[in-house]
Amino acid sequence: MRYVSPALNVMMAAARKAGRHLIRDFGELENLQVSMKGPADFVTTADKRTERILIEELSHARPGYGFLAEESGATEGKDKTHRFIIDPIDGTLNFMHGIPHFAISIGLEREEQLVSAIVFNPVTDEMYIAEKGQGAYLNEKRLRVAARKQMKETVIATGLPFLGKEGHARAGAELADVMAASAGVRRFGAASLDLAYVAAGRFDGFWEHGLSAWDVAAGILLVREAGGMVSEVNGGTRVLDGGSILAANDMLHPLLSKLLKGATV
Ligand code: IPD
Ligand code: CA
Repeated sequence: MRYVSPALNVMMAAARKAGRHLIRDFGELENLQVSMKGPADFVTTADKRTERILIEELSHARPGYGFLAEESGATEGKDKTHRFIIDPIDGTLNFMHGIPHFAISIGLEREEQLVSAIVFNPVTDEMYIAEKGQGAYLNEKRLRVAARKQMKETVIATGLPFLGKEGHARAGAELADVMAASAGVRRFGAASLDLAYVAAGRFDGFWEHGLSAWDVAAGILLVREAGGMVSEVNGGTRVLDGGSILAANDMLHPLLSKLLKGATV
């Protein structure tokens, strides 16, 4: 049976409320795409408003909890043991381009341990949830990471650096090696959903460098509660702020880690 803690309920309700506004904004964007000004300002406003709704809802239900959020940064709460980690729109570039692949991501830490997580795609109405020790679910369905054992059978997701970001040469080298070893590589553009898809067994693995805590907090718990492994690419354990992430089942994780570490620029 799916167990939803009171905190997780609060997080789901906040995401659904913010999601309703986001869907309206996403519809509006179609008109803005063709305007001279372009959608950038509009998207910034949508991002900020989504974050404001989430923080309002969460702090109303859980007064005193701290926050780490993409737009407003870190806010200490009176309760030093709890912190929400929020990405209001993960996949902002997709959102801006009218691509319906973006999500609201919320993780909850208790004493620096991730205990509850949601990743919500308001367009597909997919609500991924996880509770420490209670498993991961997509809507009502229990999630398990894929069972594939051989690299040649796998679909692996990644995120690639873009204009102004470092690591282009390394990304090219890593990509070449994973392309040569797998059935296919995907770059969908929302790290929280990449991790949710690993939890759901859609992707066999995911790696990316240069992500922030809000991109991955919820997704890390989803993968772990679906039976998967998450580490830094080099195997390190600082998954929230170590600068890279690698998620897969326990057979593929060491294979991918070896492949990526061996990629030479
Ligand atoms: C981005 C997405 C993307 C990843 C970028 C992130 P944002 O988050 O997760 O997949 O490749 O590095 O910054 O900016 O859309 O919230
Ligand atoms: Ca993000």
